[in-house]
Amino acid sequence: MEIVILKSADEIATVVGDAIEDLLRTHEAPVLGLATGSSPLPVYREIVRRHTEEGLSLAHARAFLLDEYVGLPHGHPESYREVIRRELTGLVDIDESRVQGPDGGSDDIASAGRRYDEAIRAAGGVDLQLLGIGSDGHIAFNEPGSSLASRTRLKTLTEQTRQDNARFFDHVDDVPYHVLTQGLGTIMEARHLVLVATGAGKAEAVAAMVEGPVSQLCPGSVTQMHPHVTVLLDEDAAAGLR
Ligand code: F6R
Repeated sequence: MEIVILKSADEIATVVGDAIEDLLRTHEAPVLGLATGSSPLPVYREIVRRHTEEGLSLAHARAFLLDEYVGLPHGHPESYREVIRRELTGLVDIDESRVQGPDGGSDDIASAGRRYDEAIRAAGGVDLQLLGIGSDGHIAFNEPGSSLASRTRLKTLTEQTRQDNARFFDHVDDVPYHVLTQGLGTIMEARHLVLVATGAGKAEAVAAMVEGPVSQLCPGSVTQMHPHVTVLLDEDAAAGLR
């Protein structure tokens, strides 16, 4: 696990932007794994800037989202498919048909999860998976207690995660209770994991992920078992590291 501590979210975005640009320029059919939430937003702004100002193309890429809320109507502005369209894919040259998220609106969530894992495999697997980490140690929405071998499936959000995500909704009661999320086993199949965490609110989760035991209690700790992980932190998020 490579730990990179930088001064600001913008510096992190430049380093991650370089990794994504290198993938896009060197692979004929690159597959990106996209996270939502606040942590990756500076990275998406940097990719959009490189596209607009420097001609970086994503047209040949495919992208898979980590997770999706269950219970939001199709096209809801806070559905993760819409967030990604607004923050990244709608602002660059990737065709939206090449961007896929778990189908949180499916009547049969269990088979939607299986189909999603199959779609990722059929695309050749994810080359670079962007990740954030929840203040409770979750990655994607694998909350504490998630099986380290889990596949894409229905999960219930913890009260803490619903509170953390309430800032995107008018009221905490509007935050869905359930999500369809890539499992930890699914995420671990990506060839390069790039996790971004900023701010003091992440310090405890980052310390548990990097230095704690590999445990379901901190789902992010499973990444210690991955052969190619880059963790990019600002000084506040790194404050709990020994
Ligand atoms: C979102 C996701 C979550 C977030 C995590 C951190 O697709 O998978 O694991 O990465 O909740 O969220 P932020 O970045 O908003 O603190």
